[in-house]
Amino acid sequence: MEIVVSGIRSTGNLHLGNYFGALRNFTRMQHENKCFFFIADYHSLTTHPTPSNLHENVRQVLAEYLACGIDPDVATIYLQSDVPEVTELYLLLNMIAYKGELERTTTFKEKVRNQPDNVNAGLLTYPVLMAADIIIHKANRVPVGKDQEPHLEITRKFARRFNNMYGTGFFPEPEAYNFGEKLVKIPGLDGTGKMGKSEGNGIFLSDDDKTIRKKVMRAVTDSGPTEPDQKVAEPIKNLFTIMQFVSDPATVKHFKEQYAACTIRYGDLKKQLAEDLVSFVAPIRESIAGISADRDYLRKVVRRGEEKARESASKTISDVRRIIGFKPF
Ligand code: TRP
Repeated sequence: MEIVVSGIRSTGNLHLGNYFGALRNFTRMQHENKCFFFIADYHSLTTHPTPSNLHENVRQVLAEYLACGIDPDVATIYLQSDVPEVTELYLLLNMIAYKGELERTTTFKEKVRNQPDNVNAGLLTYPVLMAADIIIHKANRVPVGKDQEPHLEITRKFARRFNNMYGTGFFPEPEAYNFGEKLVKIPGLDGTGKMGKSEGNGIFLSDDDKTIRKKVMRAVTDSGPTEPDQKVAEPIKNLFTIMQFVSDPATVKHFKEQYAACTIRYGDLKKQLAEDLVSFVAPIRESIAGISADRDYLRKVVRRGEEKARESASKTISDVRRIIGFKPF
């Protein structure tokens, strides 16, 4: 049994890319591993310091986690800001993190480009907090996408450095978890690239039927195949890829054959895809709405999560303090 930690920033609603790339697998792995899933609300402050919607965003993501099948009786699901031990470890790790290596992290350089007017120290030390999130539970596995690889790399470095500095094997070096399969990448509806939060190319788990239909009908296509069996262009390939996740295999086959025979009508393809997406998303959306309205349930989930997460975290912190040399008088 492995210890698994993963977090998600509370900066917006989850989309199908998050669902197929991560959440679906979280619900599978929770039964075979000791899983800690948390909402990275502190991390959200590095880019979204807006008190007016902080709480709402956290509640939304929490409800979405639960609606997708994370079971609070099986996994530990909690808020980062409920576990002060994480911030303590973050402070301690900051003493062994070097400014230069943080400045060289590709994700930091990208953030600097994205928000040149707000290069706060939290952005620079984002990977330190993330490392604390992970090693506070002495995790071995971190199920994240490829974009998070630099952060995992640096997390391993900090774990190793701590161990070397204090002559211990205390922290394991956590590895990425790819669910024993190729990382799935859900494309967006804008013809190129993957589905993302900020790209405006995604279908959200909270989208209503009308929005889903509108987004799909507006999806980028091309002028259509002109020769039999011609290579499928990227925008159309992307629609087929999404279809493979939500439609019947016979439906996918039908449209692929039509494409190969040059008889395909993109309008029909989109209508079918829209309906299949609607059927897929609607029950999840309704479940999100139900859970999100049930304040008593959410309060219970969060309290229980906090308790379980702190039990694990406080054990690590007291060991770390002892290893570093703090002693009671
Ligand atoms: N940086 C991650 C992201 O943007 C979120 C995150 C924060 C995280 N702490 C983590 C993921 C710890 C895994 C483990 O997606």
